[in-house]
Amino acid sequence: MKILLVGSGAREHALAWKLRQSPLCTELFIAPGNPGMAQFGRCVDIRGDAIADLTRFAVDNAMDLVVIGPEDPLALGLVDALAAKKIRSFGPSLAGAQLEADKTFSKKMMREALIPSAEGRSFKSMRDAITYVESRNDAMVVKAAGLARGKGVVICKDPVEALDAVRNIMEKKVFGAAGSTIVIEEKLEGPELSLLAFIDGHTAYILESAQDHKRIGENDTGPNTGGMGAFSPAPRMTDELSRKAESEIIVPLLDALARHEIDYRGVIYAGLMLTPAGPKTLEFNCRFGDPEAQVLMMRLKSDLVEAMIACIDRKLDQVTLEWDQRHAVCVVLASAGYGWESDDKVVKGIPIEGVQEAAAMRDVMVFHGGTAMRDGQLVTNGGRVLSVCALGDSLTDAREKAYAAVGKISFKGMQFRRDIGGNAG
Ligand code: AMP
Ligand code: GLY
Repeated sequence: MKILLVGSGAREHALAWKLRQSPLCTELFIAPGNPGMAQFGRCVDIRGDAIADLTRFAVDNAMDLVVIGPEDPLALGLVDALAAKKIRSFGPSLAGAQLEADKTFSKKMMREALIPSAEGRSFKSMRDAITYVESRNDAMVVKAAGLARGKGVVICKDPVEALDAVRNIMEKKVFGAAGSTIVIEEKLEGPELSLLAFIDGHTAYILESAQDHKRIGENDTGPNTGGMGAFSPAPRMTDELSRKAESEIIVPLLDALARHEIDYRGVIYAGLMLTPAGPKTLEFNCRFGDPEAQVLMMRLKSDLVEAMIACIDRKLDQVTLEWDQRHAVCVVLASAGYGWESDDKVVKGIPIEGVQEAAAMRDVMVFHGGTAMRDGQLVTNGGRVLSVCALGDSLTDAREKAYAAVGKISFKGMQFRRDIGGNAG
């Protein structure tokens, strides 16, 4: 099978590693990929948002399967464009991707399916949003409705902060076009968990549990990021909670998608908050989490290609996934300024040392995110540079191995959290 993987982050590096292990995969192409992935396949210089170019490449090179890592190509309709050319892909159609790309739509689906979530309202007019905020006197969460790379959410402790957030998003357009519509929600409290499931349109298969650390700073301080680390399993995801989440969130979502005639085949990621009133859904994502995928791929023993094909062929009910019973931890190494500044402002081109030494350690994988090769030297090329992952017999063991590997790697300005997996219980 010739497979094209779309994406260039550490999530895609982890997917490339697993896809390449499948006996079904005869050739792997990655668009655009990164230097870490080059050992598993041929990197093709096409960006993830170049839908027509990706489709042409897939047609011209007779791809049997296209696996889409990030949300942008999904929200831009890559799956639909490929389907029109009879090429199979793993990921939801444009309509399904709206669950992530349009928070107004996502809220509507949650309400309709009676999925527990934060109370919220959606606004297209800044004046209406301001009137609404002024009518309240509690903490609120103001969100850009569109895609904003995990950053379009402002937690506001009172209406004064919420008014600021509304103006920043709608008037100053700090999140660009993503903020032309906003959602204002009640602020929920509690620990967060990620729930991921494969979906074939009818059946859902809940994946092993994983939890990420979204804030840039230790002890969950500072701004939200795409994710600074993750661990799996997440002790908070008990069997009881997993069953509850399946019956109260995933199954009603499947029904709602069917009612709307949305053909969703791929992975769904529900961001949950464990509130005193039970688990509530903060958001849906239409793809694997990054860095959740890294820890899940470390533990997945089954053939990833087979599982993806089962989603596409609606045969998920015939699948049983096998997982490594050990624990996985992923520590993200980020560039100076990441999390505090916009991604395009972080300094790039800084030489990275020690990756090979770290990657040679037992039970360790180093997945590349924002890296590039310049004159034979590995350099930084983005905000989240590397995902250093390790397996261990216990969470503590996995953490120790991951941080021992981190200790081998250095680049100027490197920042990472030292408490990944530390607040698991
Ligand atoms: P989202 O992109 O909607 O998942 O939001 C990103 C992050 O913002 C979440 O992971 C939470 O940490 C936080 N967040 C979002 N919605 C709420 C809410 N209603 N109450 C409290 N925190 C929230
Ligand atoms: N780890 C959070 C995300 O992928 O959205």
